[in-house]
Amino acid sequence: MVWTRPETATSERRLPMKDATEQLPDEGLAQAWARTRLNELWARGRAFLGTEVAVLGGAMSWISERHLVAALSQAGGFGVLAAGSMPPALLDAEIKATRALLEEGGGQKPFGVNLITMHPELDTLIDVCLANQVSHVVLAGGLPSAAAIRRVKEGGARCVCFAPALALARKLVRSGADALVIEGTEAGGHIGPVSTTVLAQEILPEVHDVPVFVAGGIGRGESIVSFLEMGAAGVQLGTRFVCATECIAHPNFKKVFLRASARDAQPTPQVDPRFPVIPVRALVNKGTQAFVEMQRQVVNRFQAGEIDQKTGQLEIEHFWAGALRRAVIEGDIETGSLMAGQSVGLVTREQPVADIIEELCEQAVNTLARRVPPPLSF
Ligand SMILES: Cc1cc2nc3c(=O)[nH]c(=O)nc-3n(C[C@H](O)[C@H](O)[C@H](O)COP(=O)(O)O)c2cc1C
Repeated sequence: MVWTRPETATSERRLPMKDATEQLPDEGLAQAWARTRLNELWARGRAFLGTEVAVLGGAMSWISERHLVAALSQAGGFGVLAAGSMPPALLDAEIKATRALLEEGGGQKPFGVNLITMHPELDTLIDVCLANQVSHVVLAGGLPSAAAIRRVKEGGARCVCFAPALALARKLVRSGADALVIEGTEAGGHIGPVSTTVLAQEILPEVHDVPVFVAGGIGRGESIVSFLEMGAAGVQLGTRFVCATECIAHPNFKKVFLRASARDAQPTPQVDPRFPVIPVRALVNKGTQAFVEMQRQVVNRFQAGEIDQKTGQLEIEHFWAGALRRAVIEGDIETGSLMAGQSVGLVTREQPVADIIEELCEQAVNTLARRVPPPLSF
């Protein structure tokens, strides 16, 4: 059936333009209403994190260290230390240094620690967090065991886990996760196959027992509002914070981010399904091409009977070892790994973290303010 405008919408019933303008609510009032509405929308996330805004700074290996994390928490968000590449003693020092920076900045604000579940010293790293009274521990990089979740909780911290599908979200909640992050394939770094919008539709309407934070491809406040309205408690952003002034990423890494567009951030190419590749979203560079060439050679040598599958697979897995550090710390943007999400196209300048958060909130508030209807007057 074709929808047609109802006959009742006659010119008599329409307001003359001038009157309609006079009826519009005061802009300041609309903004005030929108701010209150935003606070309502992410109240659960703010309460869970203990922050002014329910924005988690996604942990990024090598760069989510004391400076970026303290800046995020100082600005009202929630910084998360990336401990994936840290031995326990280094994590202990980094937690203490983050606290010291926050103290210098005017007092304690909450922040968390992200641990990779397959780290050989996971239990010791959890204990370091607990000994330092870290309030939130994020278990990333694979499904955490119920024992790891229990260890975090029994030590008095809140446990945040990544849920890549609805069934796993339910399982994690049953195992005791206090909150979930759902991260779509648009994200930077290690990725799953499903988009953020589809994951959000699959999980947000179904999971209510714990707060759920949405990640992957979020670069503006408009999109934050849309996920909050779908039921998210808050959001997690990584790519958007790489070019923060406080981020220690090498200037070359930041420069390549500022030039890149969404389509430059691609998942790692896989040449042959017999040699699976762990997908990572990163900007394409010479290293990406060399990786494809290297995989071809492995496949050829395998087919010629020169190497077995296991040897070839190991060669492929070792290719990127140390490559993120080489790019993000040493500035080798040719052969290093330029991990970036598709929202890289929305990163247009280097800015302090506080400005980025303010910009995101302003965009969210303006989006909501535009929804305030003019009062009905007939
Ligand atoms: C350079 C880079 C490094 C990352 N390293 C990690 C990591 O060590 N551990 C982790 O759980 N996620 C890591 N991530 C993912 C982020 O924590 C975050 O979830 C993701 O960036 C959110 O999506 P977005 O990039 O679209 O904002 C990384 C992302 C980037 C861009």
